[in-house]
Formats: sequence, structure tokens, C-alpha cells
Amino acid sequence: MRILLVGSGGREYAIAQKIYLDSPDCDLYFLPGSDSMQEFGQCIDLNPLEVDLVADWAEKQKIDLVIIGPEGPLVAGLGDSCVDHGLKVFGHDQSTSLLEGSKSFAKNFMKKYEIPTAASYDISDWSTGESLIIHWPHLLPIVLKADGLASGKGVVIASTKEEALKTLRSFLDGKFGEASKKIVFEEYLNGIELSQHLLIDVTPDHRNYCLLPACQDHKKLMSDDKGPNTGGMGAFAPIPFLTEDDVEVLKCKIIDPTLDGLHSEGLVARGVLFLGIMWTSEGPKLLEYNCRFGDPEAQVLMAMMNEPLLPLLLQVAEQRLSKKMVEVKPGTHLTYVLASAGYPDKVFQPVEIPNLPIGNPSIIHAGTKLQDHRWFTHGGRVLNVVVSGKNLEQAQERGKLIIGQVAWFGMQYRPDIGEKALRHHRAGKSLYDLWS
Ligand code: AMP
Ligand code: GLY
Repeated sequence: MRILLVGSGGREYAIAQKIYLDSPDCDLYFLPGSDSMQEFGQCIDLNPLEVDLVADWAEKQKIDLVIIGPEGPLVAGLGDSCVDHGLKVFGHDQSTSLLEGSKSFAKNFMKKYEIPTAASYDISDWSTGESLIIHWPHLLPIVLKADGLASGKGVVIASTKEEALKTLRSFLDGKFGEASKKIVFEEYLNGIELSQHLLIDVTPDHRNYCLLPACQDHKKLMSDDKGPNTGGMGAFAPIPFLTEDDVEVLKCKIIDPTLDGLHSEGLVARGVLFLGIMWTSEGPKLLEYNCRFGDPEAQVLMAMMNEPLLPLLLQVAEQRLSKKMVEVKPGTHLTYVLASAGYPDKVFQPVEIPNLPIGNPSIIHAGTKLQDHRWFTHGGRVLNVVVSGKNLEQAQERGKLIIGQVAWFGMQYRPDIGEKALRHHRAGKSLYDLWS
């Protein structure tokens, strides 16, 4: 089977590794891929946003399945283009991808289908925005979100009205180009955040989903949730205090209405849905939809799956998803993100990574480059260390051993992945309690 995987980061490396290990008969192609991904297949030098060129190439190469990793090509319509070329694709249509591509579209969808979420307001001019900030009807802080895709940097949590005004000005002045010309203002929600992934298959005839285990990302740069927000410094699963009843609540309040909504709107869905949930004292509220796997959540999910990934992706691409829940390995599964000096602001690179252990499946490449047989950092999030253990302590021990073998100038990581959740659990607290 010939597979084209679009993307080049840690998420795509983990997906490629999983398919390579489970389904060794497949020929894998990556677009654009990375030096490290050549371990599993061949990189193709095309721009994933040139959707017709990519679909043309895939058709000529008789690709059996296209898997689209990142949101950019999905929102640019690569899924639609592949379908138009008669290809099987794991990746939503452009219209469905707007759930991630436009915060305002997503919020209107949530409101229409009565999915619990933060109160919000669409703003696209200075005077209405200024007046909303001055008369803000909720407690501070104020959450401001660029409507369009902004590489994960389009959310600002302004703790004062002055900061909100400054953010409004910079967004309207085009900080993220067209993506921030419209802004969604949101009420700030307090609670425990989790990342819930589903594989979904919605057509005019049916709506099916397959649940993956909920994970927790660690957004702040430093231990104990200190420092600036990042794309994610580590993730773990399962969440020890998430009960079966909680999952039922999630299904009933968020998942079912979302699938019903997609179906009623006539939207075709054929890929991943990643629900960013804030679990408040009143229950789960939906912060956002993503139409792709989370990064670094995907790395944890791939490690804990106890069945091959490819047959599931094919079920979705062929619109015959029948599985209801992914089979998972027991124990605790962790991803540590090893990041460059300066991340998440100005990244200091390239820096050589001396003595990088080669061929260790626990080391996922997220942003590396090979030059003259030497590995260098290339981007903010450089490597992920993925480990499992019978409990958090054992997984941490294994992580420490591997991380101890890797070092470069300025490398930073969070050693406390999963610890806050374990403390919460040991204190007998639930999802409805604030972090202990
Ligand atoms: P988003 O891109 O919408 O997930 O936002 C990025 C991060 O900002 C989320 O993962 C949350 O940690 C935080 N966030 C977003 N919206 C809210 C909100 N309404 N209340 C509190 N935190 C939020
Ligand atoms: N880790 C969060 C995301 O991928 O959006």
C-alpha cells in the first residue's frame, strides 16, 4: 500500500513511526517530511498548500491513502482536492475544517447546537471592541482570539483592560494578517483542561465516531505552570481522575451534539476531531475544535494504542468507521518536549545536538536537521521523548534515563509532566474541583 503523509513535525513523525512499525509492507511518502522521517520513507519536495499540485502528484503516483497532518493544508482545501482526484483521504473537507480555521464559525456552531462554551463576542472594528472592553460584562481576565489560523499564537489572555486594548489594537493592525482582522472575545473559564480526540466519519447517511483516550497537554513553558504559553511542553494519558461517568457527560453534552450539528449542516467529516475542553465546576465547556491531532498529544496517543493505526484511518477515509473505541495499552504514557533555547519567543538555532542516540523509538524528532552527518536543532520544539510505565513514577524514571543521554546548548524541558494530575488524584479531587 502506498501512503502519503502530509506534514513534518513531531506529530507526523509519531504517526509515520506507528504506521512503519505496525504495517511494514507500506511504502511511505512524506510531504514535505523532514530529514529524520527518511528513516521511514521518502520525502517529496512539494508545498502542501498547493493543494491541486499535491493531489495531482498523489493521483499520478497511485497513492492509496493520503493522511493530512496539519491544519494549514486542511483549511486550504487539500482534503477536497484529493477527493476530486479520486483519492482516499484521511482529512476533512475545507468547509468542515473551518471549525478550526475560524473561531467565530466554531463559536456560532457551538451556540446553534447548544454545546456548552464560554460566552463570546465577534469584533472587527476598534470602537465596538473598545466599548466592549470598557463595559466588559464578565470577570477579568478577557480572552481575545484571532479568528483565523495563527500557528497556535492567536490567543491572548489579558489580565487587565489596558492589556486587552493593546491586544485589540495589535490584532486589528494585522498582527496575524487577515487572521486577526476579526477577533473573538471570550469570557475566561476556570477549570481543568483536557484534550479529547475522536476519529469521525460523518456523511449525509451516517455519523460515527471512535473515541481515543483523553490526555492533558502542558501549555506553560516551565514546571508548576510557570512562564509563557507554548504550543505544548508535554502530555500524558490517561487522566487518573477522569471517570466513566465523566466520559458519558462529555459524550452527551459535547460529542453527540457536535456530530448531530455536522450532520444537520450537511458537512462531511473524515478525520480527527480534537476537542479542547475546560472542565469547570458546572461541567465540561468546549474551548475549541481542532481538525487534526494535537501536538504533542498525538505522540502519547500513538504510543498507547494497542492496535494498528492504519486500518482505523482507512475505515474513516472509506467512510465506514465501525470501531467505537481505540484499544489502549495499560499504564501511564508520557511525552516530554525538549525545546530550543529562547522558545517560545525568539528561538536560538541551529545548535548541534551531539551524541543524539540513533534508532531509539522513544525519541521522536519534531524539529531537527541533518547536516554533514550531524544533527542540529531546527525550530522551537526539537525532540519528544515518549515513555510508558506501569505508573507515572516508572514512566518518569524511564524518561529521565533517555533525557539524560540528550543535551544541547540551551535545551529546555519540563520534568513535571503528569505530576499535577497525580497530586490532584491523590488528594481525592475530581474534574469538577479546581486544581489542588
Ligand atoms: P485555544 O487556541 O482556543 O485552545 O486557546 C489556547 C489556550 O488558551 C487554551 O488551551 C486554554 O489554555 C486557553 N484558553 C482559551 N480560551 C479560554 C477561555 N475562554 N478561558 C480560559 N482559558 C482559555
Ligand atoms: N497541543 C495543542 C495543540 O496541538 O493544539
